[in-house]
Amino acid sequence: MSIDYSQKIPNNVNLSNDRTLQRALEHWQPHFLDWWREMGPHDFASADVYLRTATGVDAQGWASYGAVKMPDYRWGIFLADSIPDRRIGFGDSYGEPVWQQVPGEFRSQFRRLIVTQGDTEPASVEQQHLLGHTCPSLYDLRNLFQVNVEEGRHLWAMVYLLHAHFGRDGREEAEELLARHSGDADKPRILGTFNEPISDWLSFFCFTYFTDRDGKFQLKSLAESSFDPLARTCRFMLTEEAHHMFVGETGIGRVVRRTLEVMKELGTDDVQALRRHGVVDLPLLQRYLNFWFSSSLDLFGSEVSSNAASSFANGIKGRPDETTQYQDHICTDATYELEIPDGKGGLQKETVGLRNAMNEVLREAYVRDCEIGLKRWNMQIQKAGYDFRLKLPSTRFRRSIGAWANVPTDPEGRIITRGEYERGLPEWLPTPADRAYVTSLMQRVTAPGKMAGWVAPPDRGINNLGLDYEYVRLS
Ligand SMILES: [Fe+2]
Ligand SMILES: [Fe+2]
Repeated sequence: MSIDYSQKIPNNVNLSNDRTLQRALEHWQPHFLDWWREMGPHDFASADVYLRTATGVDAQGWASYGAVKMPDYRWGIFLADSIPDRRIGFGDSYGEPVWQQVPGEFRSQFRRLIVTQGDTEPASVEQQHLLGHTCPSLYDLRNLFQVNVEEGRHLWAMVYLLHAHFGRDGREEAEELLARHSGDADKPRILGTFNEPISDWLSFFCFTYFTDRDGKFQLKSLAESSFDPLARTCRFMLTEEAHHMFVGETGIGRVVRRTLEVMKELGTDDVQALRRHGVVDLPLLQRYLNFWFSSSLDLFGSEVSSNAASSFANGIKGRPDETTQYQDHICTDATYELEIPDGKGGLQKETVGLRNAMNEVLREAYVRDCEIGLKRWNMQIQKAGYDFRLKLPSTRFRRSIGAWANVPTDPEGRIITRGEYERGLPEWLPTPADRAYVTSLMQRVTAPGKMAGWVAPPDRGINNLGLDYEYVRLS
């Protein structure tokens, strides 16, 4: 179904056929706009931004591009087309028709999942509230705003489900999604990573690479859900999410390229020399990667989880690419082997039911996906003739959730003493001096086609436009 833009709330769910729902969402809309004005990109309300807006929901050519003032962006409700005769793809009800309504017995589980997903969307906009002030180029500024408006739309996607399928509870949850704020002492966002400030662009690129990718995997597993409206919602969100990860991967790639240029120019990889020339030395980048990767790993939850098992059994949340990647969709007899700390400084093997290990299965798929970017960046470094290699730390490193929570390990995953861990940290995670240095690089560049000195230009512009296009017209 095509998107109806003639309505107050653009949608492809025939909203005007359900007056009660339409009214409820129209009541929520001004609250969302107030939130956007207060917590969204600071100071750019009157700028013309070259944004894409959804025009359809199929993978090919769904977007139109044009200058938009962000508060006028047409946030709406877009679900991917339904698949005729879609069947439940995993769990105890495998093969039965999917649900168009939430079964009463799974209502609270679904609600919790939708609220948790929904909470991350506005959270990231809040985390990036001030970033526009220090943009390295208009191209990057536009990408930031594109990500921000789409995260706002993802909030709409979850709020629609809450309003349409969870009655009064759902409406209350929708209000709460605007009441919690990233980093707020009294009402923080639900998940830890979404309370970390993103005050520099290196963090932004790491966030879009690692944390948005967690989003990708959560959405992929929810896109398998037996609750069809949720599955369709998430399928369309994934097409938007791809751009966010592009921003992260190319962003870090451009940082690496620029650093390599300066290393070559100066004929050295000496950190202080590179810093005098205003680029991000590779060990510093590695510490940022360690920080955001380890923080994002916690988002998948505990290795062994009865919650994850029941989500799978009940058809609520599957594995990413459930249909194409796996043979056994029931997983009652399958087991999974884990290596966890034994509490005495060593390791022990534990065999658990596969259903109980679904968080870990998801996390493994995520880690494999993260490796792809690292290979590309390392290829650049190798081609430039340097031995340095970026790498993902062990999934045991710096965890706050699960079997490895608060177990001191080094980035290779070797268990060490607390003292060794504390002494190692300045090598492994961004130090206050690193952060201060990165902050010092964050000088705003807004001349069309110009680029800050710490990041190389991208290979191409947006939607076939040149790099010198004025992607954001500041007034
Ligand atoms: Fe999102
Ligand atoms: Fe995203």
